[in-house]
Amino acid sequence: MKSFYIETFGCQMNAHDSEKVVGTLLERGYEQVEEPAGADLVLYNTCSIRDKAEQKVFSRLQQFKKESKGKVFGVLGCVAQQEGERIFERAPHVSLVCGSASYTRLPELLVQIERGDRRVTGLSLDTEETFETPLTRRDNPHRAYITIIEGCDKSCAYCVVPFTRGPERSRTGASIIEEARQLASMGYTEIQLLGQNVNSYLDPSPEGWNLARLLREIARVPGLRRVRFTTSHPRDFGRDIIEAIDENPVLCNHVHLPVQSGADSVLARMQRLYTRSDYMRRIDWMKNSPRQIAITTDIIVGFPGETEDDFKQTLALLDEVEYDSLFSFKYSKRPNTPALALDEHLSEDEKGARLTILQEKQRAIQIRRNADLVGRTEEAMIEGFNKATGQWIGRTAQNRTLNFTLPDGLPVPAPGRYMPVLVTRAGANSLAGEAVRTA
Ligand code: SAH
Ligand code: SF4
Ligand code: F3S
Repeated sequence: MKSFYIETFGCQMNAHDSEKVVGTLLERGYEQVEEPAGADLVLYNTCSIRDKAEQKVFSRLQQFKKESKGKVFGVLGCVAQQEGERIFERAPHVSLVCGSASYTRLPELLVQIERGDRRVTGLSLDTEETFETPLTRRDNPHRAYITIIEGCDKSCAYCVVPFTRGPERSRTGASIIEEARQLASMGYTEIQLLGQNVNSYLDPSPEGWNLARLLREIARVPGLRRVRFTTSHPRDFGRDIIEAIDENPVLCNHVHLPVQSGADSVLARMQRLYTRSDYMRRIDWMKNSPRQIAITTDIIVGFPGETEDDFKQTLALLDEVEYDSLFSFKYSKRPNTPALALDEHLSEDEKGARLTILQEKQRAIQIRRNADLVGRTEEAMIEGFNKATGQWIGRTAQNRTLNFTLPDGLPVPAPGRYMPVLVTRAGANSLAGEAVRTA
């Protein structure tokens, strides 16, 4: 029997692609191992979103160069697509290079590898197919990812994704509902719908569902308790999505809506296709929802030409929206992207200084927002137990971590179950509390 090792970098789409790749390999009789040393086939599913992510892959490949004899190395994902056959030059011991838009060809590529072919590639972007397989081997027994749309048709000036994942392709609504039903019957209670831009989801069947309709249909699948979706692009984010959340408690009251910058001039140069006031209109829909929707975002600091004043506008936006959480990044130059041609690139020091200021501001906002939850009872999905602290680890519908203890006499909870928890303490990044006795 042949063995394989796989390491995954990057976003949830990559994590889920790896689950599909693992299922495909197991089906072909491979056995998964936890260490690259013992594997016949070593795979890296790679991310190229920032320079650091790309560098990581090449340093991994260098690490094992000397011990590469008898092993097959493969590079999958976004760096594979971006670098293509150049990977064979940078790391000659690699034999398989396959981008995520070509995974439907993976079984065929594996046959070539098994035949002993030294250099095998899957790099075409011109596919209308999505990578669907009934063989997916999910890592988590309670929360499942489902890809609903692949690729991206936007062209944000800083971003490699349109080059690494190809054009948008949506799955049919019927196949998504079918997968959700199967997962629910297997005991999954939480589903996370994935796409680089889920708001442009458009069912290719005659039904022609949009995202809001798909969400309503998924919410009706018996057995599901939590449905999430990510990532949303503000331009395509319709009010009907909030209406669907308002009407369906199964749809989690959390929306991740990346803004990137609070300054119109920067948004225009980023080619984000919305203004700050367009964005704020969407925030207002959420703030006016009866369901108290948690809002999170992504920010890039130091985009070329970002002035002190532009940056201050981003800081002011944080105060205005009061995000529940955010991911922030220093702008990183990426190959092929239009932003390379812009003037006024900022120094690493300046970007770093802005990032620190932004993160400190957000930390203060989160401390405040989390403190507001003290005294409330939240439903936690149990994720595990932390031996070091003696606390159970839970997650709220708003996607906060809620660590909790059990009062005497309450039965020990099992991962994947749900429990009401009284919030008693709040930090910047998590809540703590005590499970509540139900009648
Ligand atoms: N499709 C999603 C997410 C894309 S990648 C969206 O449109 O929001 C996730 C985040 O990485 C982005 O939201 C952005 O904040 C960040 N990112 C993308 N390219 C980057 C770059 N070149 N430098 C720094 N951050 C980047
Ligand atoms: Fe990248 Fe923009 Fe597409 Fe998101 S919407 S994946 S940031 S190009
Ligand atoms: Fe990275 Fe590709 Fe995802 S670049 S963030 S793995 S789409």
